Amino acid sequence: MNAHPMPTSTLSLVRTPLVTVEKLRVDMPLGRSGASVNIVDGVDFTIGVGERMALVGESGSGKSITARALMQLDRVAKVTGKVDFEGTDLLKLSDREMRKLRGSSIAMVFQDPMSFLDPLMTIGDQVAETLRIRGIGKAEARKRALSVLDELGVDRAAERINAYPHEFSGGMRQRVVLAMALVGEPRLLIADEPTTALDVRVQDQVLDLLDDVSTRRGLAVLLITHDLGVVAGFADRVMVMYSGRIVEDGEVGDVFARPRHPYTQGLIKAVPRIDQDHAKLYAIPGAPPPPMNRPNGCTFHPRCDQRFERCSQDVPVMLPVGRTRVACHLHDGKGI
Ligand SMILES: Nc1ncnc2c1ncn2[C@@H]1O[C@H](COP(=O)(O)OP(=O)(O)OP(=O)(O)O)[C@@H](O)[C@H]1O
Ligand SMILES: [Mg+2]
Repeated sequence: MNAHPMPTSTLSLVRTPLVTVEKLRVDMPLGRSGASVNIVDGVDFTIGVGERMALVGESGSGKSITARALMQLDRVAKVTGKVDFEGTDLLKLSDREMRKLRGSSIAMVFQDPMSFLDPLMTIGDQVAETLRIRGIGKAEARKRALSVLDELGVDRAAERINAYPHEFSGGMRQRVVLAMALVGEPRLLIADEPTTALDVRVQDQVLDLLDDVSTRRGLAVLLITHDLGVVAGFADRVMVMYSGRIVEDGEVGDVFARPRHPYTQGLIKAVPRIDQDHAKLYAIPGAPPPPMNRPNGCTFHPRCDQRFERCSQDVPVMLPVGRTRVACHLHDGKGI
């Protein structure tokens, strides 16, 4: 017996790390000129075993490119830094090793299931394919495909395994895509706006399902979303991304109760409320800068209502503030 049991509120802080990302930087080539543009600018984070991490931020902040870099999905991208997955640096793996790892250790689902599904292949064959390319026999692959479709609430799975994608509704197709991702029993699932294209009711069903599967399997999830309501309902922790950097990272309860970064404060203030007059909807003024034209200092400073002199000069670094990490000069202890 432990004489000093840990308070439950700090338990999630001591999860065993599954993925540790250090100084992740992604540059994309600009046409054929040889020049490139920086998209992700030195990102650090950890996702624990079984943890649900949300990644939020306005369009163009670099969320998808970050996620894709973890799996090395963009062939032309120049990715540097370190992505430690249970002791292996994924950025050092060969294409072949990385292909083996995709699906079995890390899997990814995207917003638009239709673009991911082959219209000419049955659902069952598509789900089984992840296993077939790993050398698993046809009968066994089919058996596991059926079991995962069943787990994901596709009723009459034994029959519908022979159906084609067009015979499924949007929500069902997203379940199939999830089944394709989960059949290889990954430890981390990256879900990039998996429910954005679905109506609210189906969205809730898919999220409940993800919730169940993640609990049952101890599966870590990196969920990319625009919807802070989804973050509140689903995630343990949230990272806020702005212009290629993480600006705040903490437990969902802490960040929502007390957002420290003015950008996080703006995102939360901009969430429409049911009792709110449409005319009074808040929007953060201005727009995020294009990656090739980022302002000096804190890249958010031109839009920030709390900026002061240092903000346009020095780049803020992530520092712990309470249980959260924040990159903002307001919180670096140096004063205004
Ligand atoms: N292949 C590419 N080459 C050059 N720039 C790219 C490429 N893909 C994306 N970008 C740029 O990188 C930036 C980040 O893109 P990313 O898709 O990661 O944003 P995001 O945060 O996922 O946005 P959204 O919420 O709209 O999905 C954007 O400015 C985008 O225009
Ligand atoms: Mg995206």
